[in-house]
Amino acid sequence: MSSMLPGAPWLLAHRSMIKTNQPCKISLQGNDFVLWVDAAGEIQALPNACPHMGAMLSAGWCKQGKVVCPFHALQFDGAGCTVLPGSGQQTLPLLQPLKLIIQNDFIWSYGQHEPVMPIPSILNEIASDYKFIGMTGEYNVQTDLLSMLLNMHDYNHQNGTHRPLFEIEEVLFDRFVDEGYHSDAYYRMPRAQTSLSDLFRNPALLAMPKTLTAHLENFFPALVIFHGTTFFGKFKQCHIFVPESEAHTRTYVLVFGQTNSFIGKIALRALRSNMLQLVDQVVQQDADILHKIYPGTPQKIKLNNEVGMDWVHRNFEHFPQIVIPK
Ligand code: FES
Ligand SMILES: [Fe+2]
Repeated sequence: MSSMLPGAPWLLAHRSMIKTNQPCKISLQGNDFVLWVDAAGEIQALPNACPHMGAMLSAGWCKQGKVVCPFHALQFDGAGCTVLPGSGQQTLPLLQPLKLIIQNDFIWSYGQHEPVMPIPSILNEIASDYKFIGMTGEYNVQTDLLSMLLNMHDYNHQNGTHRPLFEIEEVLFDRFVDEGYHSDAYYRMPRAQTSLSDLFRNPALLAMPKTLTAHLENFFPALVIFHGTTFFGKFKQCHIFVPESEAHTRTYVLVFGQTNSFIGKIALRALRSNMLQLVDQVVQQDADILHKIYPGTPQKIKLNNEVGMDWVHRNFEHFPQIVIPK
C-alpha cells in the first residue's frame, strides 16, 4: 500500500471532465468509484460495485440526481441509499460515499485514508488569475506511481523521449531548489530548426522559441506545474498524477493561459486545440516510454542532473515525513 502514498491528496478530476447526468468511473488506490453530478450540481461519489449483484454503477445512467444501476435499475442517492421496488421502502446507506474536497473546479480526495498532508493551494491561485484552456493528455499508464513520477522529474529525457517532437539538442540545467515536498527546477533546451513538415503537423510549434526555457514547480506527490511563456502570453501546464492501483497510474494535464494583448487573445483562440494536442503528444511519448522500461533494473549509471529523481526517491522513502535538505 505504501507505494500509493496513503494520506496524500489526489486531484481526481477537474469539473469539466465530469458531464452532467453522466456517471463516470474513477479508480483510486485499488478501488473503483462512480462519480456523477446530481440535480443541484453537487458532485457525488460512491463505490462502483452495486450492492445488489455487483454491477458497475458507472455503466449506468442518472435519473433525478441519482445514479441508476445498469443491471436491475436500482437508483442510489449520494448517501448510498436506494428505494426498494415493491415495498417502496428507503434503505439505510448500503455504500459508503467517497469523501471529496471540492475547491473551485478541482475535485480532490484522500481516498479512504486519513489526511497526512494538506492540499496545495497553487491550483486555486492559478484558477483565479488564468483562464482555463482545457484538459488534455489523459492516459492510464500501466506503471506504478513511483516510475511515473521519476519520469516526470527526469530532466534528461527531453532529448530522448521527446526528441521526435521538439528536436531538442541538449538540456542545460540551471538550478534545483529543494524545499522538502516543494521544489523548483530551472533548465533550458536549445532546439534544432522546426522542419516544415513538423510545422504542418502542428502549427502550435510556431509559438515555440528557439530555446525552450523550463521552470517546473513540483508539489509532491501528485502535481507538477510547467510555467511557460509564448509570444502571446503566459500559460501553466498542470500535470496531475493519480495512483489507480499498484500497477496503474493515471495522468492528465490541465492547461491555463493568460494574455493581455488583443493579438494574444486571437492567437490563443486560434491555437487552442493545437496547443492541447501538442501537450497530448508529449504525455503520449512519456506513456510510451514507460511501457518500454524493464522494471527493477539496477541503475549502474548516473547522469548529471538527476536531482529531480533523487528528490522523488527521498520523498517516497520518508513519506509521510518531510525531509528538508540542509
Ligand atoms: S446489480 Fe445493481 S440493481 Fe442489480
Ligand atoms: Fe516527459
